[in-house]
Amino acid sequence: MSQPINVLLMGGGGREHALAIKLRQSPRLGRLFTTHADNPGLAALATPVDVPVNIREAYRLVQFLDKHNVSLVVIGPEDPLAEGWADKLRADGRLVFGPGADGARLEADKAWAKQLMRGASIPTAEARIFDDAAAATAFVRSRPNPPVIKAAGLAKGKGVFVPDTTGQAVDAIDKIMVAKIFGAAGSQVVIEERLEGPEVSVLALVDGHNIYVMETCQDHKRLGDGDSGPNTGGMGAFCPSRQVDEALMQRIERQVLVPTLDALRREGIDYRGVLYAGLMLTPAGPKVLEYNCRFGDPECQALMVRLESDLLDVITATCQGRLHEIDLAWKPGASCCIVLAAPGYPDSPRAGLPITGLEAAAAVPGVTIHHAGTRRTADGTIVTAGGRALGITAAGSSIEEARSLAYRAADLVHFEGKQMRRDIGIKA
Ligand code: AMP
Ligand code: GLY
Repeated sequence: MSQPINVLLMGGGGREHALAIKLRQSPRLGRLFTTHADNPGLAALATPVDVPVNIREAYRLVQFLDKHNVSLVVIGPEDPLAEGWADKLRADGRLVFGPGADGARLEADKAWAKQLMRGASIPTAEARIFDDAAAATAFVRSRPNPPVIKAAGLAKGKGVFVPDTTGQAVDAIDKIMVAKIFGAAGSQVVIEERLEGPEVSVLALVDGHNIYVMETCQDHKRLGDGDSGPNTGGMGAFCPSRQVDEALMQRIERQVLVPTLDALRREGIDYRGVLYAGLMLTPAGPKVLEYNCRFGDPECQALMVRLESDLLDVITATCQGRLHEIDLAWKPGASCCIVLAAPGYPDSPRAGLPITGLEAAAAVPGVTIHHAGTRRTADGTIVTAGGRALGITAAGSSIEEARSLAYRAADLVHFEGKQMRRDIGIKA
């Protein structure tokens, strides 16, 4: 138990930077390796993997892990999970945090996930699945109100359209299925009834048979203040959400989490990692909007600054089916993560814009800077290199305090065209 353990962390965003910071705090951690040393946050904490990482040559990474005695791999993002990296790496006693390709279908195939929910009577929006654009369009035109249109496959959190008119709904089908803006992810669409109500993210650890719910979070998916503008990967998050009391959480466990795990097991799926349910709290009760097969980004950043327990212990227990043996401890209070995005995000973010003020921001009490889409240039300047560049995350004694610290720090960070919502955490 007390032997140091070498870990590979796959993925290169703000979520992975937050995980790396917490893993580094564990006295049991030996060496930490990263697949994404181009993220300056990860580069400062982990050793780069020096072999190509692609699934067709998975043996090269396996050889690297053998050579460096890496006995645990933590997979952050959905793409490598959907590609089946967990299946490739979970061998010879090596532990992998994250489901195999079969379990990752919960997120990677919304049509399959919908059928799984139907089969298990899990509350979710009524939906129809189409693989033909003309049929999908005819269906939308026959509806009295414009439904929600979703690309069935992975689309970086941008594959969902919530149109206000039938014309916009038809347009969304066109973008997904005809213009194929998400590629093969758009060969099927899920068209579902539009639900109303507050949204919460419930993230649970799953070890094959046990479920351990983490603190609840709220994400802000739209680009603009007051939930305006297009959907993004998430512009900010806070934790805990005050929407979910004890009784509601029990209902969510009973009606959503437990039946989901049971349905996965019936399919023969041994699910180990994070099960994330995006829920809408409708007047008729909580309903599933989506599943994710991993920590949310930026929910993870908000969670990790509040996690008191040793993350390495928690992750190993999850991989080994020992969740019942651990106790998740959270720091009292709340946290808030504000995403700073490059101009042009989500459509065409501008790269290479110099970022200043990071040191001053990091010096604000309770604040952690999470690097997501940034790079360090040859002369040491940090520049934008992706849509969501940074997460500015603060922990505080209350959500109000966490929010105000996070905004104080976020206002100290500058780059041309910085996009940031002003209302993260206000819903709390
Ligand atoms: P998803 O990626 O499926 O969570 O969808 C992204 C966002 O679209 C959600 O966070 C909701 O705000 C919205 N959304 C998804 N499905 C629905 C629905 N059935 N009714 C209303 N809004 C939805
Ligand atoms: N923030 C939402 C997600 O990670 O999908």
